[in-house]
Amino acid sequence: MKRVAILISGGGSNMVALVDSMTGDHPARPVLVLSNVPGAGGLERAAERGIATAVVDHRPFGTDREAFEARLTGALETARPDIICLAGFMRILTPAFTGRWSGRMLNIHPSLLPKYPGLHTHARAIAAGDADAGCSVHEVTAELDGGPVLGQARVPVMPGDTPETLAARVLVQEHALYPAVLRRFAMGDRTPVHLP
Ligand code: GRF
Repeated sequence: MKRVAILISGGGSNMVALVDSMTGDHPARPVLVLSNVPGAGGLERAAERGIATAVVDHRPFGTDREAFEARLTGALETARPDIICLAGFMRILTPAFTGRWSGRMLNIHPSLLPKYPGLHTHARAIAAGDADAGCSVHEVTAELDGGPVLGQARVPVMPGDTPETLAARVLVQEHALYPAVLRRFAMGDRTPVHLP
């Protein structure tokens, strides 16, 4: 049984989808939900599901990313995860940290990578006049939003879409895509998932 730690910064809707998918014959189980933001809504949702939670507040560390990540690593090691899922986790990780978890850490990004790495992805897709938008699950490497893509879900951009309406449409697909990719990944299967 693979042990999965999930890192969040906010409401944790992707974390909830992942946790709720790890049942029955699923080869993985959640062992920790960790937030860099004290009081993040996802912490309560994880606790309601009986999942151990932890907080490593990044603010006391200022720009000292290595010191923050040392604390992060300490909190993670207690849970002995086999896989780390970044789910709405809004901190940039150093190559030292991504290297330590190389091949075992996933992230969901709200664009059809390699398009629109970084922030404001939906506004950028709308501004570009793209017909489609979506989300990607990728392995985390030293390159921000740059690792091998393990799955994508595509949605149409509708006339009159705002970043908010598009984000809501994409989020529904995130909640289908991430669990589907994690299930395969936990079985050692890197065949990409494509939705629909
Ligand atoms: C989502 O838009 C996701 O694409 C991004 O973080 C946002 C919030 O995710 N990674 P969640 O509801 O906290 O899972």
